[in-house]
This record gives sequence, structure tokens and C-alpha cells, in this order.
Amino acid sequence: MIESTIRVKNSGLVRVKMIRDDRDGTLAIIESLRDVPFDIRRVYFISNLEKSVSIRGKHAHKELEQIIFCIQGSFVLGLDDGNTSQKLLLNEPNVGIRLGKMLWHTMEDFSESCVLLVVASDYYDENDYIRDYGDFLKLAQ
Ligand code: TYD
Repeated sequence: MIESTIRVKNSGLVRVKMIRDDRDGTLAIIESLRDVPFDIRRVYFISNLEKSVSIRGKHAHKELEQIIFCIQGSFVLGLDDGNTSQKLLLNEPNVGIRLGKMLWHTMEDFSESCVLLVVASDYYDENDYIRDYGDFLKLAQ
């Protein structure tokens, strides 16, 4: 079931400023330490997803903080803190979800032309990943 309120730990909604210019499009702004509660060290985006087939994520981070946005289209974000799990629909470009530490996350059910944007508190470091769900559950207790 897709929910509208966040119940897992280490998450939350991040709503950023968006300026709508009618037929000239929309402009959304993400400012480090203002809209996002950390200094942004890395930005990455995910595109070319195959509608209803692709699945991404399936990991947690030990320390990294991230905010994930769906800047085009929609997808379903699965969150699991080791005790509580839930699914959220992301379909507004200016509404991000905090992926705090020790939060198992999965991205799936992508719409046509879906584009994800992620801002992260640190550089890429494979040692910060927990990629095994069993390991995650042990560490999350
Ligand atoms: P991963 O974080 O598992 O992707 P997702 O959560 O979107 O499913 O990363 C996929 C691959 O890309 C993995 O081999 C690591 C590499 N990668 C980098 O080299 N730098 C990065 O900043 C990220 C996010 C991934």
C-alpha cells in the first residue's frame, strides 16, 4: 500500500522552492544547508529507466545522508528502517524524501521518462554501503 505520511526512522519530507512560469516551465531550487540539512558534496541523477521493470537501490548507508527527488514522472520509493517499512509515491518535482543513515531503500514502478535526482552529503564510498539485507537487519537492531 502506498502511504502519504512517513513512519520510518531517519527520513522526512523536504519541500523546495518552485517557481511556476506558466507556459515557460517551472524552476525548482535546492540550496545546501538551507533546503537540505547538510552540505551537498555530490549530486547524481538517474534516467533511462525501463517502465515497470527497473528496480534500483536495495541497499542502506552507514553514514551517508541523501535527499531523493523525482524531477520528472513518478516512481515508488520503498523505505525500511529495520522495524518499519512503507512505500511512498514520488510524483512532485519539488518534494524530496530524506534517505538518512541505516535506511534500506528501493526505487521501482517508474513511469515513462522518469528522472530521479539525488543530493548527497558525501562523495561516493562503497565502504559506506550495506548491500545485504540480512546484514542490514542485524546492524539496524
Ligand atoms: P548504486 O548506488 O547501487 O545505485 P542505485 O542506488 O541507484 O541503484 O550504484 C550503482 C553503481 O554505480 C555501483 O557500481 C556504484 C556506482 N556509483 C558510483 O560510482 N558513484 C556514485 O556516486 C554512485 C551513486 C554509484
